This record gives sequence, C-alpha cells and structure tokens, in this order.
Amino acid sequence: MPKIRFLPQDIEIEVPEGKTLLDAALENNIRIDHNCGGNCACSTCHVIVEEGFQSLGEMSEDEEDMLDEVEELTETSRLACQCKITADLVVEIPPKADPLDDDDF
Ligand code: FES
Repeated sequence: MPKIRFLPQDIEIEVPEGKTLLDAALENNIRIDHNCGGNCACSTCHVIVEEGFQSLGEMSEDEEDMLDEVEELTETSRLACQCKITADLVVEIPPKADPLDDDDF
C-alpha cells in the first residue's frame, strides 16, 4: 500500500490505492479542513505535495479554479479531496489562513 507522510506533523500512514488524500487524513485523525465536504467547491483542503506530485495525475478545471483562491499557492498545490492516492507521497498541510475558523472539523 502507498505510504503518505504528512507534514508538519511528520506522521506516516499506509493507505489503500484509490482513496482520496482527504479521506486518508481524516480517517487517521490528521486534520485537513474540508468546508464543502470534499466536493471541490471550496479551497480549505489545500495541501502542498512535497514528493510524489506527478503520481496524482491531471487536475480538473474545477480544481484549478478553486486553487486560484488559495493565497499560499505553490507549483505543487492540490486540493486533498481531489487527489486519488496511487503512490507514496509527502504532503504538507499549510497553516490555516484563519485560526479562529476551526469549528467545522
Ligand atoms: S473540501 Fe472543499 S474543495 Fe476539498
């Protein structure tokens, strides 16, 4: 099974292929915000893929549009709910833009 390492927590988990990055994180008590419930309709599940970016495949136009809203956008930014896991990854969860908005986990 692919291994995913989450930063900055430095937690490594094994995940069945085909699961989304968001589901994998939530099932392992790793917090990633997901205000729209994983429907590619917000950008709160933004993550930065440090290793394994190519394995995630093409982004949809909807995902690209949502990522345009992200302030700390990088070359390897993705939405965790749109990433199907197929290989090992190292993923950085950026700090929340608004630390007061944390009642939806
Ligand atoms: S949870 Fe809203 S886009 Fe991923």
